[in-house]
Amino acid sequence: MDGNGRWARRRGMPRSVGHKAGADNLESMCDYLNSIGVKALTVYAFSTENWSRPQDEVDALMDLLYGYLLTVEEKFKNRNMKLKISGDTSAFSEKIRGAIAHAEEVTAPGDGMVLNIALNYGGRSEITRAARLAAEAVKEGKITPDDIDEDYIGGLMYTADLPEVDLIIRPSGEQRLSNFLLWQAAYAELWYSDICWPDFKEKDMERAIIDYQNRDRRFGNV
Ligand code: FPP
Repeated sequence: MDGNGRWARRRGMPRSVGHKAGADNLESMCDYLNSIGVKALTVYAFSTENWSRPQDEVDALMDLLYGYLLTVEEKFKNRNMKLKISGDTSAFSEKIRGAIAHAEEVTAPGDGMVLNIALNYGGRSEITRAARLAAEAVKEGKITPDDIDEDYIGGLMYTADLPEVDLIIRPSGEQRLSNFLLWQAAYAELWYSDICWPDFKEKDMERAIIDYQNRDRRFGNV
């Protein structure tokens, strides 16, 4: 959900206003994607590097996140959606962790779209975590090193219960992954847009999806 800060600055407003506009846009985007049958949407809301932002911005993001989590039960139930959080949530306050646990629990029966929010997430740390978990399983004698293959490591990713990633969209003009879904990106299609996230609307998403649908995905085959 990149470009919130620039979106706000261009309007002479504090960056936190851009994050609020970004959170509002997420809601309408979820409605749209859920309505067209998308099974899972992963959004990058807070990276392992974002802690180094000015404290007032980190605080504003935490407040926004907490406020959002409190609305999930009511909003998601009507839409049959399910919430999932990916990342190391141990770094968050007890209040936020409690709200995450509650939101995940009450939306668990939903069989509509899964909104997977990456929080305190980094692709490298996700892969490192998987390697550590595999090493521990070997050490405890649960598996042998020969059992460690792509399926095993894939099963240790936060996203193990989600479908393969088909399309990664980065708004705001940057053309890089910035530590997002590194493992999962292996065969994902990429789409870059110059539009900042708060302005990235249904019609922009539709363009990206139609372009994706016209691509020839060969998965290494001919
Ligand atoms: C990147 O834009 C955006 C973020 C680091 C935060 C995204 C968070 C939200 C939209 C709201 C909180 C989450 C939820 C789920 C309610 P940027 O700040 O890097 O923008 P810039 O590149 O223009 O500076």
